[in-house]
Formats: sequence, C-alpha cells, structure tokens
Amino acid sequence: MDMTIATSGIDMSENLRLHVFVCTNQRDPSKTKECCADKNSLEIMTQIKRAARSSGIKDVRVNKSGCLNQCEKGVACVVYPQGVWYTIPKDERAVSEIVEHLAGGIIAEKYLMGE
Ligand code: FES
Repeated sequence: MDMTIATSGIDMSENLRLHVFVCTNQRDPSKTKECCADKNSLEIMTQIKRAARSSGIKDVRVNKSGCLNQCEKGVACVVYPQGVWYTIPKDERAVSEIVEHLAGGIIAEKYLMGE
C-alpha cells in the first residue's frame, strides 16, 4: 500500500531555518476594511521569493498567507520562528533589505511593523 502523504508539493523533510508568511488576503471590495492584496502583496511576496531564490537561500520558505490580523499595517509579513513582523512597502529597497535579513543578516528595522 502506498503510504505517501500529500503535502501540496512541500518536502516536509527539508530543514527550514526560517518560514516567511506574506498576507495576500483579498477582501470583498464592498468592505471598508483594508486588505494586503490591495497593496500589491502578491507581487511583493513573489519578489521576495524570487530574490531569495536568486540569492541562493535554500533554507528559507516564503509563502503567501491569509489575513494575519494586521490589515491596517500591511502588507503584513511575519518571519518564523523569530516572530519578526514587517510592514512591507512596494519598494525594491525594502524587498532587498528583507531578503538580506532572510539570508542571515540583520533585521530590516526600517520595515518592522509598528505597535
Ligand atoms: S488583510 Fe493582510 S493582515 Fe489582514
């Protein structure tokens, strides 16, 4: 009997150092509450993912997520297990500095999510 467990293409045996979630939640346009998708979060997540890959970072996974309950502070991003929260603007410099953090550099303090 085949005991393989479907994991949506994720190799669960890989050793991840960091797991990054970027909110790509799209709220119904009729709702007044903000959402990250309206701030280009999917494009930002894709840029981070591509930059991490092209930088040769193999032990960090970047995924989209649902609402992280930080809608007004988005684009919301959290880096686990560090518990670092970012507000990511649509800005190449922000993506670059956050990818530097993911590569093992210092936290990109300029983009830390405020209180
Ligand atoms: S919509 Fe992104 S944190 Fe809620």
